[in-house]
Amino acid sequence: MKYVKTNDGSISAYNDKYDDYYHSQKDGAILETLYKHIIPSFSIVDKTSLKILDICFGLGYNSLFTLAYAKKFNINVEIFSPEKDILLLDGLRNFKYPKILYNYLDINNILHSITQSKKYNQSNLSLYVFKGDASIYLQQFKDGFFDIIYQDAFSPSKNNELWSESHFRELYRILHNDGVITTYSSSSFVRKNAFLCGFFVFNMKYFKLKQGSIFTKQDIDIKNIENIILNKIDRLN
Ligand SMILES: C[S@@+](CC[C@H](N)C(=O)[O-])C[C@H]1O[C@@H](n2cnc3c(N)ncnc32)[C@H](O)[C@@H]1O
Repeated sequence: MKYVKTNDGSISAYNDKYDDYYHSQKDGAILETLYKHIIPSFSIVDKTSLKILDICFGLGYNSLFTLAYAKKFNINVEIFSPEKDILLLDGLRNFKYPKILYNYLDINNILHSITQSKKYNQSNLSLYVFKGDASIYLQQFKDGFFDIIYQDAFSPSKNNELWSESHFRELYRILHNDGVITTYSSSSFVRKNAFLCGFFVFNMKYFKLKQGSIFTKQDIDIKNIENIILNKIDRLN
């Protein structure tokens, strides 16, 4: 694995085995995490208590920024995240996360907890990490369990099993009726697979960021949601 600095100044990495990056170099790891996953999903599912699936843990940006965001806005979150690269999880204690995360969270304590006991619990914030294959992990969850799913595997051409029609069928089963899936991918292969499983498919594009997708089980007023997203981004800056 090779560390790389992304365009927003945050550090991400390149994975030799998959020949792929953990985040878009152009958008940046922080902006991808906040603008493609956290803010859109928290804008669509407006609840004070959320169950979130982060596929997959990787460098932990999605899960850790979600804990920080939930802490800032006093939202209860339970995050469930599979990751099959066991060595990666153990190596993260030396990883240089963006400074802002340390303002909200005791990152060293969280990393220590999840590498030792695969879970972290602190008042209204919980994170459960599973070391193993995501497809097997998903089978244990009951229908409609998750409010939010971050679909964040490597790109479809490199990590095909986590973008297949059967994968989206399983996501459809475990997503709540009012829930949402966010992804950086805008590939027609991915959108078609989601659509074939019954999802409504929406384009996600703002500022100069690359376009991503939103999948829901119910139709939503996407124009209204975009305004809410832009408002939340404004408030965060
Ligand atoms: C793009 S990275 C995830 C980035 C991460 N969400 C973050 O915020 O840093 C994709 C991750 O998926 C993991 N992965 C790929 N296929 C998997 C599978 N079938 N089961 C579990 N993890 C998998 C890889 O090891 C890699 O860490």
